[in-house]
Amino acid sequence: MHDVIVIGGGVIGLSIARELAGRKSVLLLDRGSTGQGTSRAAAGMLTPLSEADDQGPFFQLCRASHAMYDGFVQDLQSETGSDVGYSTDGLLCLSSSEDSANVIQRRYEWQKNAGFDVQLLSADAVHEMEPLVTVPICTAVFIPGDRSVTPRRLVNALREACFNRGVEIRTGLHVDSIARNQVRVGKMILEAANIVIASGVWSPELSGLDPPIPVYPRKGQILSLGMPAGAFRRMIRWGSSYFVPRSSGELVVGATNEDVGFDLSNTPAGLGRLLMDAQQISSHVGAYPILETWTGLRPATPDELPILGPSAIPGVYYATGHYRNGVLLAPITAAIVSDLVRGRKPGFAIDAYAPSRFGMGHV
Ligand code: FAD
Ligand code: GLY
Repeated sequence: MHDVIVIGGGVIGLSIARELAGRKSVLLLDRGSTGQGTSRAAAGMLTPLSEADDQGPFFQLCRASHAMYDGFVQDLQSETGSDVGYSTDGLLCLSSSEDSANVIQRRYEWQKNAGFDVQLLSADAVHEMEPLVTVPICTAVFIPGDRSVTPRRLVNALREACFNRGVEIRTGLHVDSIARNQVRVGKMILEAANIVIASGVWSPELSGLDPPIPVYPRKGQILSLGMPAGAFRRMIRWGSSYFVPRSSGELVVGATNEDVGFDLSNTPAGLGRLLMDAQQISSHVGAYPILETWTGLRPATPDELPILGPSAIPGVYYATGHYRNGVLLAPITAAIVSDLVRGRKPGFAIDAYAPSRFGMGHV
C-alpha cells in the first residue's frame, strides 16, 4: 500500500511523483517505458507570451510555471548531474504578411502596456541577431525571457530524480480501471490513499472515471535538421511553424496540429509544409541534413485548458489535458497536485481547470 499511485510516466506524472516523493510514498505506473508518450515528441518551448492574446487564467498559469522554471531546472540538474538542454536565449516572432503582422502587433501592444519585456525590432535588428534569416519581415517582436528545454533529456532527468527520491517506478503495467483507493492492472489490484491520473491523451481510456475525461488527440508532426554550430541561437516563430535550436546542433522544426485521431504517421503533406516553411524562414536550411522526423499526440480538451483537480471519487485527482503546453506547465502542475494530495489549498487558483467544468459527471 502506497500513499499515492501516479498513473503515467510522462513529463506531468514524473514531475508530480518527484514533487510528492519524500513527503509521501509514491508508486508510478506506466504501460510502456517512462517518457515515451507525447512528452518525447515535444519541441520544449517555454513561451507563455508568444501565443497569449489576454491576461486570462491560462496565461497566468503559464506565466507562473514559466517563473518556476529556472529553479526547477537548477534543482533537477544538481540532483541528477544531467544537462536538460535549458536555453535562455529568447524567442523571435516574425511576420511576412499584413494579417500575421496585425496579430503580432496586437499582442506586442497589450503585453508592452502590461509591462512585459517585449521588443519591437527592425528587419536589420533581426538580421544582426540571426544573420541566416532570409524571410521578408513585416513585423518582428523579440521576447528575451522566453526559454526552451530538451524534453527527452528533461524526462530522463525527472525519472532519475524520482529514483533518487525513492519513487517506485513500475513500467510495462497498463492500468485498466480505477476506483476509490484502487487501481486495477489486469487481475492485480494495487491500493493507495490517493491516485493521480496523468496518462495524457490516453486518460479517457481508464474505466471507472467520474467525471469522464474529455481529452482527445491533436497530432503534431515535427522534425529536426542538423545545423552548423551556432547557425541559429534564438527560437523563431513564423506563422504556425517554429524553429527551436539546440546547443547540440539540432534545429527542431515544428509542428502540424491535426485532428486525425490516434494516427501517428508522418505524411508528405505534414512534413512538406514544415520543410517549405523552414526554407522560407531561412533559405540556408535547404542544405541541412534531415536528422529525424516524428509525431506526437497532444492531449487536447474542448476548451483547450488542462484538467487539474479533484475528481468526484475521493482521493482521485486529474492532471491531464495539457495540450500544447505540458512541458511548460509541468512545474506548476506538480506543485498544485502535490498541495491537493497533501490536503493543502493550492497556492494557485485552479477553478478554471476543474474536472467538473464539462458538466458530464457528478462532481
Ligand atoms: P505523456 O507524455 O503522453 O505521458 C503519459 C504517459 O501515460 C505515457 O508514458 C503513457 O505510456 C502512460 N499511460 C497512458 N495510459 C496508461 C495506462 N492506462 N496505464 C499506465 N500508463 C499509461 N509542450 C510544451 O510545453 N512546449 C512545447 O514546445 C511543446 N511542443 C510540442 C510539440 C509537439 C509536436 C507535440 C505533439 C506536443 C508538444 N507539447 C509541447 C505538448 C506536450 O508534449 C504535452 O502537453 C505533454 O507532453 C503531455 O505530457 P503528459 O505527461 O500529460 O503525457
Ligand atoms: N507548443 C508547441 C506545439 O504544441 O507544437
